[in-house]
Amino acid sequence: MKRDLITVTDLTDDELQNIFQRAQGFERTSAQERLSLRGKLVGKHCLLLFYEPSTRTRLSFEVAAKTFGMDVCVATAESSSVAKGESIEDTAQTCGALGFDLAVMRHPDDGAVAEFAEHFPTPVINGGSGKSAHPTQALLDAYALWKRDLLREGLRIAICGDILHSRVARSNVRLLNRFGITPMLVAPKELMPDGFTLEAGTSDTESLQAETQHNLDDILGEVDAIMMLRTQTERHGGVVLIRPKDFIAGYQLNAQRLEKLRADAVIMHPGPVVRGSEMTDDVMQDKRTIIVEQVAGGVFVRMALVDLLVQQT
Ligand code: CP
Repeated sequence: MKRDLITVTDLTDDELQNIFQRAQGFERTSAQERLSLRGKLVGKHCLLLFYEPSTRTRLSFEVAAKTFGMDVCVATAESSSVAKGESIEDTAQTCGALGFDLAVMRHPDDGAVAEFAEHFPTPVINGGSGKSAHPTQALLDAYALWKRDLLREGLRIAICGDILHSRVARSNVRLLNRFGITPMLVAPKELMPDGFTLEAGTSDTESLQAETQHNLDDILGEVDAIMMLRTQTERHGGVVLIRPKDFIAGYQLNAQRLEKLRADAVIMHPGPVVRGSEMTDDVMQDKRTIIVEQVAGGVFVRMALVDLLVQQT
């Protein structure tokens, strides 16, 4: 039976550990050893179906699939028949008939990737759906923490920014809760949800565990890790929810606020960063910032996922 990854709850605890260990194994291989992986999935085909822009997710899945020798095809909303009104179900059946062994899909609607997976014959990985779920981003964020032995009960992690519109925040809270971690969500009231809706595609009725806080300065000195998020104005429906200068005054990580962070804290961001909004150049250059490491680790985490899901088919 095929396996899909729509939400982090689709993975067992053992599989989570296995993904981190396999990702680290891939990360430690030499360029020469990596060449020997090329025959692993040769003759298999991977579809990257991206209905929203992406740099990191799309390219890292392409690198991951090609490292195993897979052929990769890319389709976007503009370049596919969705632009002519084709439904998700019909798109899934059409792509399914083309013989792909794996699809990675990103879509602006919460339930679209789960719906696609219902009608697609081989594994589907959610590359980001609406504001509900971005499981592979949460996995690579967790991998960066796991490598530092921080992914355990007692971790004090803040997620700061546009929580209301962030699928990254939702998937991270869900995954951190699996490790007994209750993150602190920091946002102005305009960008803080009343409660979390469940990630699309899950039948889990358990609520997500997170604390909320409106004052960034109050918690900076307490945290082991802080994940900054950009303001996702593309999901604000053309309405100004908070004036940029007010967001910057209260929530921008900058040189003054860096001084309040502990020397051993880590600064994370899923990307893309909007410099001058949620963080400044000083933060990008700070030695506590691990954004580039997160991106690099994303390739290895996605290799582990491709390997897990395609091999099981
Ligand atoms: N973090 C993330 O999903 O980045 P992209 O939109 O570039 O894929």
